[in-house]
Amino acid sequence: MNIWEDERQCYIRAAMEKNSPEENEVLKEQLKKIDWSILEHIERKETVNERGVFAPLEAVEISEITAREAEFREIGLNAIREQKVGAVLLAGGQGTRLGLDKPKGTLNIGVNRELYLFEQLLKNLMEVTDEAGAYVPFYIMTSNINHEDTVQFFEEHAYFGYPKEYVKFFTQEMEPACDYQGRVYMESSTEVVMSPNGNGGWFGSMVNAGLLADIKARGIEWINVFAVDNCLQRIADPLFIGATIAYGCVSGAKVVRKCAPDERVGVLCTEDGKPSIAEYYEMTEEMATARKANGDLQYGFGVILNYLFSEQRLEEIADAHMPIHVVEKKIPYMDVDGNYVKPEAPNGYKFETLVLDMVHMMDNCIPYEVDRAKEFAPIKNLHGVDSLDTARELLKGCGIEL
Ligand code: UTP
Repeated sequence: MNIWEDERQCYIRAAMEKNSPEENEVLKEQLKKIDWSILEHIERKETVNERGVFAPLEAVEISEITAREAEFREIGLNAIREQKVGAVLLAGGQGTRLGLDKPKGTLNIGVNRELYLFEQLLKNLMEVTDEAGAYVPFYIMTSNINHEDTVQFFEEHAYFGYPKEYVKFFTQEMEPACDYQGRVYMESSTEVVMSPNGNGGWFGSMVNAGLLADIKARGIEWINVFAVDNCLQRIADPLFIGATIAYGCVSGAKVVRKCAPDERVGVLCTEDGKPSIAEYYEMTEEMATARKANGDLQYGFGVILNYLFSEQRLEEIADAHMPIHVVEKKIPYMDVDGNYVKPEAPNGYKFETLVLDMVHMMDNCIPYEVDRAKEFAPIKNLHGVDSLDTARELLKGCGIEL
């Protein structure tokens, strides 16, 4: 059965009733290209996260990093100088909580001057490339929704001083979005709502975009992948790279010490002996409060969406199935009367794969501790928790004038 023949699909059917035959042909063309089995995940959403046995994983703590700083730094800087390190900025999200119509990276985080999120990230990267005396190939993942605006923004700002030949954009894939009953929302009378399919497909999208040849030609062995919204994000951090290599690991994750046992952050641990991230809502009270002999939490380090992966290992897992997460989001849509609705609260589901699930596909992963006051200022909301307000305070705390 074609999706438009399904009586439950009220938004599609309402649009089709009003459309001209030509408009319906346009719509049907789009509908035929979509794999609708994605909607089955709504029923399976309770089981997608069925997990194995969690156990704690020792982190490389700041005290150790400080003691071995010179060694880690040299290994990391050498890897950068030998062009073995690439960086991938995940900027395909829609930032629905922030509610900006433009790409999140175009947010002005300055107060008395203009300072864009993208600009601050590039500044952070250039501190490293200045030290290394070598540039890091920089790949930016966008979506169809924000690609043009993102590229244009970089062009207008002359790549914030980073050499353009080291910057490449690629777009991620999209999936339809629906209401809580699985009824697919309409974007307009001839298009259903399509949303970016999460940040987990970034490597596959790079391959689809033909960038594997670029990675190979440059001889990249390590890829640092990170979120757009942490303005204190350290990119291609030599110490992090050095520590991951020194430990002989195929991946590393930057982590921060949890503030409290119930902090809402995913914790890096093991699951059935392999590295994994336990979401806060997957942790039992016992797990969340368990302590080591020295009083520290056993599951005490949260991930901040900054990972380092071995390129070779990424290629090996490129075709592996990744779990689909059914995520509640605010989804603007055209209702059955043809009015465009901008919801104030979540009103349906998007389907996403997540980069954190890649960690479980790695044989090992070092949790690398960083000081949250220096490296973690996520901007998810305009005000309140993890917001532009809190990020500005954190930036000021690091001596960055706004
Ligand atoms: P979030 O999970 O915070 O999602 O993304 P989001 O879309 O930015 O914001 P909300 O939830 O709608 O408010 C974490 C990181 O992953 C990227 C984002 O751009 C951000 O850097 N991301 C997210 C993608 O690149 N693609 C996606 O499909 C989703």
